[in-house]
Amino acid sequence: MITFEGAAKLYPDGTVAVDALDLTVETGQTTVFVGPSGSGKTTSLRMINRMVEPTGGAVLIDGQDVRLRDPAALRRSIGYVIQQAGLFPHRTVRDNIATVPLLLGWGRARARARAAELMELVGLEPSQARRYPHQLSGGQQQRVGVARALAADPPILLMDEPFSAVDPVVRASLQDELLRLQEELHKTVVFVTHDIDEAVRLGDRIAVFRPGGRLAQYDSPERLLAAPRDAFVESFVGYDRGVRRLSFFPARELSLREDVVFGDDTAAGAAAASMRGEPWALVVTGDHVPLGWAGAGQLARVPADTALGSLDLAPYGHTFAVDTDSLRAALDAAVLSPAGRAVGVDAAGRVVGVVSQEDLGTALWSVTE
Ligand SMILES: Nc1ncnc2c1ncn2[C@@H]1O[C@H](COP(=O)(O)OP(=O)(O)OP(=O)(O)O)[C@@H](O)[C@H]1O
Ligand SMILES: [Mg+2]
Repeated sequence: MITFEGAAKLYPDGTVAVDALDLTVETGQTTVFVGPSGSGKTTSLRMINRMVEPTGGAVLIDGQDVRLRDPAALRRSIGYVIQQAGLFPHRTVRDNIATVPLLLGWGRARARARAAELMELVGLEPSQARRYPHQLSGGQQQRVGVARALAADPPILLMDEPFSAVDPVVRASLQDELLRLQEELHKTVVFVTHDIDEAVRLGDRIAVFRPGGRLAQYDSPERLLAAPRDAFVESFVGYDRGVRRLSFFPARELSLREDVVFGDDTAAGAAAASMRGEPWALVVTGDHVPLGWAGAGQLARVPADTALGSLDLAPYGHTFAVDTDSLRAALDAAVLSPAGRAVGVDAAGRVVGVVSQEDLGTALWSVTE
């Protein structure tokens, strides 16, 4: 557990970087510091490993004031990852990762074996071990940075905008990796970002900082989106927080319609007769794999014995997984569908049923109330 007790940083020029911060970071969780530029996130983070000394209050790790620890030993016991990885340019990937183990006197063979193990853990190829940082992509460099921070298996990992210099696709995959690693390792992670979406995705708890180095709100992602404490937090989390918050509700709670799902060998006339005014029919294979949408008007225009599978169907768009996706994914699928309806599938990709935007709207209203 990391505790900020009225921790403050006043610079000699009068800048209040952090103003009496009170906050507890739980062991084994990911806590995200988010806020606008200059709001004191980095300063607060660096107080933990004594790269910044507070001018007031204290920072404690498991009850002990960090000022009682030797700074160099403290830093070796805490992983630290920064933007653009901060790798040593003249050391190979393997030696970058082995930095702290070597400092701790592990011996070269053991340190390199550990580096190899970590490369695998963060998704790097063994063949990249002898490369230099400039021979890697930005995303790969960040992976090396994470591996290096984890090398001596520190209980605490500090990450200061580690993924902000890479493109959105790479960024999403690095976030996935971190979530996967965290499921396995349960480190106490403090992660700084500007990006509220990243914060919501990664954080067990989110601390929103406001200008002047003050804490605006400290809550779970769900609470933060549901109940921003004031106008500053509300504008920071964004006016689409309602939609984002849907990611916390499972799609499993939706009731899906099966009566508008038809096999591809069904006759158009028979389908039309059983649709009871519904404007769209979903056509599936015999194995319940989705094929596309047939409109009610289209069914009325073709001969009644036409098999649905032979019609020119509208694309079904992307599906959502009924058991694992959220309401946000279901809504997204419905919004992007030409039929205004989302197709729910099981783990094997077989259609379970469909839900319209209108039905989703009603469901969203009742579950999020
Ligand atoms: N050495 C210093 N001397 C004077 N002021 C400083 C110093 N370091 C940081 N500051 C100021 O302290 C405030 C907080 O800085 P900090 O780096 O913690 O912000 P941040 O929230 O991490 O911002 P960003 O999102 O831009 O990284 C800023 O106003 C900054 O200019
Ligand atoms: Mg910063």
